[in-house]
Amino acid sequence: MIILSYYYENKRAIVRGIPNTFNSAISKYMGSGPIDVATAKVQHISYVEKLKSLKVEVLKLMPDDNYPDCCFVEDQVVVLDDRALITNAGAQSRKGEKDVIINTLSEKLALEFMESPAELDGGDVLRVGDIVYVGSSTRTNIHGINALKDFANKSNITVKTIPIPTDSLHLKSICSSPCPDTLIVAKDTLSLDLFDSSHKLLQIPKEDIYAANTIGIGRNLIIPDEYPNTHKILEDEGFILHKLSMSQIRNADGSLTCLSVFY
Ligand code: GLY
Repeated sequence: MIILSYYYENKRAIVRGIPNTFNSAISKYMGSGPIDVATAKVQHISYVEKLKSLKVEVLKLMPDDNYPDCCFVEDQVVVLDDRALITNAGAQSRKGEKDVIINTLSEKLALEFMESPAELDGGDVLRVGDIVYVGSSTRTNIHGINALKDFANKSNITVKTIPIPTDSLHLKSICSSPCPDTLIVAKDTLSLDLFDSSHKLLQIPKEDIYAANTIGIGRNLIIPDEYPNTHKILEDEGFILHKLSMSQIRNADGSLTCLSVFY
């Protein structure tokens, strides 16, 4: 059974602004730095406005300069329908980011909590119908994966583990699900036989890997600009593209989905 509701139509999103310390955000993978913080703030505002224009109800939290990566709220929680698993983020400097997420979600969803030694970043979690794929990465360990399995199994959702190449941060740095039962995957990054054979796989050029992270809202697809070859592939599939400039978010190893918790 495909569950449609988790695609972001008629959804709410929590976002968090760019802190003044954003140029100290962790940047080891996509990020080339240095980060232009003022431009990052402008890009974040455009992102929020785009979500709103596509009828997402957005709640914007204040940034905290003590946490340079705090705008990447996706990593702090995994939401499955009306339940949320508060994660234990894999980077030491990011563990305190969760407090404001807990406060914000506690009256909206039933919360569960991941405990150390379990570590997991929400960027490693990708739901496609009644399967959740989880990346085994430098941020997500076996204890985190087992905690996610316990959480997901209560909703009859199967969890499948995908090893993440050492040159990528998260599972969703490499792939995303733009609409039900469909995956966008950068070529030559993951073994495609790891995914359920029922999915439609849209492969994009490896050099466009950053454009593999998208947000689908109905047939609308938010995607980074500057990737014309991938844009053509996805337009030919019937998506209506909304291209956003993400250069300074990318310089901090951040992608589109990292900036929201959808619920
Ligand atoms: N800068 C995003 C992260 O490393 O988590």
